Amino acid sequence: MKIAVVGTGHVGLITGATLAGLGNEVVGTDASADKVAMLRRGEAPFYEPGLEELLRTGLSDGNLAFADTIAEAVESAEVVFVCVGRPPVGLGDRSLTAVEDSAREIARAATDGVVLVVKSTVPPGTTGRIAKVVRMERPELDFVAVSSPEFLREGHAIEDTLRPDRFVIGADDARGFDVLEKLYQPMLDAGVRMIQTDPRTAELSKLASNSFLASKISFANSMARVCELAGADVDGVTEIMGADPRIGAAFLRAGIGYGGYCLPKDIVTLERIAGRLGYDFGLLREAARVNDESLKAVARKVEEAVWNIEGKTVALFGVAFKPETDDVRGAPALALAELLLAEGARVVVYDPMAGDEAGRKLDGLEVAADPYAAAAGASCVVLCTEWSEFRDLDLTRLKEAMAQPAMVDGRNLLDPDALVAAGFSYHPVGRAPTGT
Ligand code: UDX
Repeated sequence: MKIAVVGTGHVGLITGATLAGLGNEVVGTDASADKVAMLRRGEAPFYEPGLEELLRTGLSDGNLAFADTIAEAVESAEVVFVCVGRPPVGLGDRSLTAVEDSAREIARAATDGVVLVVKSTVPPGTTGRIAKVVRMERPELDFVAVSSPEFLREGHAIEDTLRPDRFVIGADDARGFDVLEKLYQPMLDAGVRMIQTDPRTAELSKLASNSFLASKISFANSMARVCELAGADVDGVTEIMGADPRIGAAFLRAGIGYGGYCLPKDIVTLERIAGRLGYDFGLLREAARVNDESLKAVARKVEEAVWNIEGKTVALFGVAFKPETDDVRGAPALALAELLLAEGARVVVYDPMAGDEAGRKLDGLEVAADPYAAAAGASCVVLCTEWSEFRDLDLTRLKEAMAQPAMVDGRNLLDPDALVAAGFSYHPVGRAPTGT
């Protein structure tokens, strides 16, 4: 099928590249001319395993191309994916100007029979609003607008797109279901479940899913505080909880708190939307508060380890909001670095992928090329992202580099016995410190 993708962020680019890989003719476009130029050269603007290969294959076999304007991208498309970004936390659900503007531009250039698929995470009613804008702009255009939220995780985006747990399609018109069923047929043949519903239900399902995941993590982080006070082990508690299939083990890992571009933003957005509709969703406000508190709890562990923070060097291992990505948006490590810098610490970060980006984002943050260089002269290391290479640290070398061998493990990744045997004090989350 002929497809246009408006917006080439995580959702748009991965949707476009995978659909091109399945044999569709895809044209992507983005408001940023630099991004379009990069994509034409076959360079992905962010790291995602397998993406660059998919992008280059698409460009060389001609199934994937990039246009400078929305008009050019959508002129002969049968399906147009709307994947433009929405603003981060703070602006909530009011600023959907980019979505509205692109809808108007799409309307001007689209051909009869087109299906508009809204993939951006948006408040309920947005797909209907988009349809209204299109009708006002081109009253004679024959089109349908559907909501099909995207649940892909960074770092697993391609497999999540090809084999999602579910496809959600929210439409008021049978044509919307039919066209998307045709497009997703290879995935449906492979057994992926498709859930058909109305647009508002589809839109809310995405915000609800991410808010629930965030709340689950905050539950584990509240349990971590209780375990610290009660002398119990949070990983043991959540393992036992997770063995119950009604609860499930995923997203119960206590630590420094959730981050990223989606969870922190979506939980705030849903809380605000509910409030505007007249329901006080206090549970979500509390889950977001617990997340902030989880970060502060890690900062307190640094204090416990080094006493006065002012004038000390603290090394952060990992700054990406999670492993296998170079994304530092909403990263807990960046927020921690800010707190420590404000307390007068020198903060040096090492991350296998995201160090330079973090250095650009935060004034005063130093970036090292390897963990041992980051730890040179440090009074404490804080493990902020569970990159697997941190499991294989040479603890003797690390200790020798440091002014004081203290390890705060914000992800409970490391082996306490090995650290204590190497002479470290070890400060995990949700259980007692050792070697102090
Ligand atoms: C999320 C959703 O998972 C995905 O479905 C949606 O489409 C986009 O938002 P992503 O932002 O890639 O995906 O990150 P995710 O894997 O959900 O992790 C979010 C944060 O939670 C990370 O900072 C991670 O470290 C943290 N986390 C996750 C925990 O602290 N504990 C856990 O048990 C799980």
